[in-house]
Amino acid sequence: MQEHLNNPVFKIIAEIADKNNLSAYVIGGYVRDLFLKRPSTDIDILVIGSGIELATEVAAQLGRLKVSVFKSFGTAMFKYRNIEYEFVGARKESYQRHSRKPIVEDGSLEDDQNRRDFTINAMAISLNAPTFGHVLDPFNGRGDLEEQLIRTPLDPLITFSDDPLRMMRAIRFATQLQFRIHPSTFEAIGANKERLQIVSMERIAVEINKIMLTPRPSIGFKLLEATGLLDLILPELKALKGVETINGISHKDNFYHTLEVLDNICATTDDLWLRYAALLHDIAKPQTKRFDPRLGWTFHAHNHLGQKMIPGIFKRIKLPLNEKMKYVQKMVYLHMRPISLIEEEVSDSAVRRLLFEAGDDIDDLMTLCEADITSKNRERVERHLRNFKVVRRKLREIEEKDRVRNFQPPVSGEEIMATFGLPPCQQIGVIKSAIKEAILDGIIHNDYEEAKKFMLQKGSELGLQAQKP
Ligand code: CTP
Repeated sequence: MQEHLNNPVFKIIAEIADKNNLSAYVIGGYVRDLFLKRPSTDIDILVIGSGIELATEVAAQLGRLKVSVFKSFGTAMFKYRNIEYEFVGARKESYQRHSRKPIVEDGSLEDDQNRRDFTINAMAISLNAPTFGHVLDPFNGRGDLEEQLIRTPLDPLITFSDDPLRMMRAIRFATQLQFRIHPSTFEAIGANKERLQIVSMERIAVEINKIMLTPRPSIGFKLLEATGLLDLILPELKALKGVETINGISHKDNFYHTLEVLDNICATTDDLWLRYAALLHDIAKPQTKRFDPRLGWTFHAHNHLGQKMIPGIFKRIKLPLNEKMKYVQKMVYLHMRPISLIEEEVSDSAVRRLLFEAGDDIDDLMTLCEADITSKNRERVERHLRNFKVVRRKLREIEEKDRVRNFQPPVSGEEIMATFGLPPCQQIGVIKSAIKEAILDGIIHNDYEEAKKFMLQKGSELGLQAQKP
């Protein structure tokens, strides 16, 4: 182990701790990640005694670094060469029933390890000279790392009741590390799920986003569903689950379909918001589901209703209500459009309209549509992907020709006013929009001269007189 602790800061901590007769350990996530060979930029140092005093001395020795002290938590933190060091005194905590805020007392190393969330997060490595590099692993966290298991150190009912956010953390770690959750830990999540309500949605959202940013978020959402936590966070997603059959015709299970689309898109993009668009693209299917004896199952306008549901969902799970949300809404609204462009004889005007509406997000939209193909039939998937290549080509060709992706009106409102001697009024908008429609319909090119001619013609139709130059 010693060779993995070659960070010189550990030596400095050890020297100062030895000099002051304090025991100091590296603990928690950093130790876990060391064994997993994952890079980590947060180092937690546990001190039997005052973490604040040790941090202050170490920071002074490293070159008068700025130390942030949180007196009420007994913690101190500084940053050195892009790594954050957090020092904390060992604690023994007991929790109250309706609050996440514990009553904190000083404790021993064992007390501190007992109160941690998972066996893999409760390992400590001694830093003091005589025992430098010794691993203290009372709950066999290393064994659980090898077995790829998330398990609480104490009875899970106690660990989760102490801090219900840990139920989300269990699922998040299982998703990030692709580990299983130990059966008794898993059961305890189901039994304690209502306790999640004392946790702030901001903290829950941090965990959801961490799940969303893993390579396979489906693992997390399936666990959230199976434990019942999903009902409390995203009931709309839960409502996608299940299959109905009428006259022997079934629709697909939209929960599993959505998760497949989400995993698919994660193979292509790291962008959180495009991932959210995949998660929410079919969110309105339950409300729009109908059975038509001729057509079978339909989900008419689910894109439209889905777009409208997004602000409510974003507000509840404390996601930003800004242009990121608008982007997700736009993706959800447009997600069926490229498929309609697959037919051979699709008009240029339909392609131009999509380019105009999607603007710079057109490539993301195509990525979403490609991820949305989840047929079990390989041949069918290939065929759809080939068709989408054709759509991409059409989009490219039309954009090169007509440049409508970032549409700027070729004739400005000022020019229309000057031409007809008009003050600002409704007719300007009418003419501008007629020019835009004519370009999108392919009646004229996206070109100044053609647009000007069209403007004069439209103006005279409206009974306007062009001014003499
Ligand atoms: N911890 C805990 N219960 C919590 C949060 C944290 O017991 N609700 C403990 C765990 O021992 C954890 C350590 O505090 O390893 C540090 O927490 P944190 O920095 O949130 O997580 P990491 O384990 O470092 O993992 P990540 O950085 O991926 O969040």
